[in-house]
Amino acid sequence: MEPMVNIAPVRNGLRGEVQIPGDKSISHRSAMFAGLGDCPVHITNFLHAQDCLSTLSCMEALGVKVDMLSDTELIVQGNGMHGLEEPGTFLDAGNSGTTLRLMMGMLAPQSFLTSFTGDASLHKRPMERVIRPLSQMGAGIVGRGNNNFLPITVLPIQTGLHGICYDMPMASAQVKSAILLAGMYAAGETTVTEPYISRDHTERMLEAFGILVERQGTSITVRGGQTLVAPEKIEVPGDISSAAYWMVAASIIPNSELLLKNVGINPTRTGILDVLESMGADIHCLNTRFCGTEPVGDILVRTARLRGTSFGEDIMPRLIDEVPILVVASMFAEGETVIHGAGELRVKETDRLQAITDQFGKLAPCIESLHDGLVIHGGVPLQPAECFSYDDHRIAMSLAIAGAAGRGVGIEHADCVAISYPGFYEEMQSLKK
Ligand code: S3P
Repeated sequence: MEPMVNIAPVRNGLRGEVQIPGDKSISHRSAMFAGLGDCPVHITNFLHAQDCLSTLSCMEALGVKVDMLSDTELIVQGNGMHGLEEPGTFLDAGNSGTTLRLMMGMLAPQSFLTSFTGDASLHKRPMERVIRPLSQMGAGIVGRGNNNFLPITVLPIQTGLHGICYDMPMASAQVKSAILLAGMYAAGETTVTEPYISRDHTERMLEAFGILVERQGTSITVRGGQTLVAPEKIEVPGDISSAAYWMVAASIIPNSELLLKNVGINPTRTGILDVLESMGADIHCLNTRFCGTEPVGDILVRTARLRGTSFGEDIMPRLIDEVPILVVASMFAEGETVIHGAGELRVKETDRLQAITDQFGKLAPCIESLHDGLVIHGGVPLQPAECFSYDDHRIAMSLAIAGAAGRGVGIEHADCVAISYPGFYEEMQSLKK
């Protein structure tokens, strides 16, 4: 694909059904946890995107057998919780924070050495937030620059990990998951407490693997010494973070109606639905059911007049990856939208608050930056512009929706959508009437 993609304004609305690709967070976890089991696990609707492929290749380097049956269907066969093997080379997590952070938790208790690398963006992301609690459990992990950054080496464990009680300074499913994974191998109990509950896919999937996970409020406890028993099948639900682009596109592009099929609606992820409803969106969740341990539904969205809203740190973990696309919704809404408590966006694939202010601001001068959020003055007409994605998939896809709903956009480094949604531009094309 050309690194520069031009998105034309959509004249007659978007219509049709979208099969939402598999959930990225759940795809990562399915491959990792299956790799810790000792019987084959058949995974369907796996997200065939760069981030999840990074996880698969790391698992293979650790001796796990991965058999691709098709792009989205595979069989993962591990050698048991204690059967990972020392990799012969660096593990490359690519652009994926989830791969790196969860794997540090999984590898901290192992008796062999692992070294990690990743792409330029991952080299800038803070890893101390995982290394600190794992070190308190007895792990030996060294990174560059006071342990904050890649490359990172996880040293062979000498005397085993011990459980801890850890109060997380921020809500983060990646940090929580790393601690719980290490906790499964530690002596005694490990309890992790978050300021607000982040996505709970790890807890749900560990339970499906026979691990007892106790939850009390925002605290989660796992006892070491349990044996993970892999289920035969894992079906990955569609990713609400990918569906989010179509929810907003159908809301703001006149004459649209989209049915988003098989979307994960785990309550720890549905902040976007709450915010869009508060903005007056015409959005309905139909046919709700379970996909394994995860709730799913089909989401029907029609064009609506949106109004500005405000949201802050209490809902942030439930919509953390949707802030860029919610900013696009706010640009098309009547009145002001105020977002607070979004400081974590500064340490995502890029500094998303800065990327939004600088690049979305080229389309309409309606965005003010706050240290932990944004103010968007909605309803200002958009102009065409050439914008930079910063190689951040969520910035690129949000720009594309803004351009389609506005007067067009050129996106530089647009191919980064392959990180989470390889068919995104083609899907947009197919939904035009
Ligand atoms: C993820 C957790 C979130 C999210 C990321 C995926 C996960 O990150 O932003 O895209 O799969 O656990 P944090 O844990 O840093 O909030």
